[in-house]
Amino acid sequence: MTSQPAASRRTLLRGVALAGAAGAGLAACGEGGDAGGGGEETPSAPVDLGAADEVPVGGARLYREQRVLVSRPAEDEYQAFSAVCTHQRCVLSAVEGTGADCACHGSRFDTQTGKVLRGPATKALPAVPVSVKDGRLVAGGDA
Ligand code: FES
Repeated sequence: MTSQPAASRRTLLRGVALAGAAGAGLAACGEGGDAGGGGEETPSAPVDLGAADEVPVGGARLYREQRVLVSRPAEDEYQAFSAVCTHQRCVLSAVEGTGADCACHGSRFDTQTGKVLRGPATKALPAVPVSVKDGRLVAGGDA
């Protein structure tokens, strides 16, 4: 009276196998070919990062496009670092608490000092000049 739809079960299993094969191709970490040439680590000319108040007091903010990490230890105090990881030059991925993380291999840097909190990176992030002009943050160059 009841017949098992064997074909549909087989179809389902084949679908699972294909999904697994597709997932295996995601491991590559693409890097390089970046615009701007020469692997610049910090902005060579001053760049406007936007309103200075966007950086929380006691915290930090990552400007990935400009490759700058800015921390704000006190209301009127800002410091900036290159956001290019000193391990293999990936741009840092996120700020969490007082650390900034690199998603490429897991390095973590102190947002207040630029020092390495977790490897594989061994060198601190280089400092970048930063200043506030008319309420806006300017980093790099002679800022
Ligand atoms: S490039 Fe950042 S941890 Fe490797």
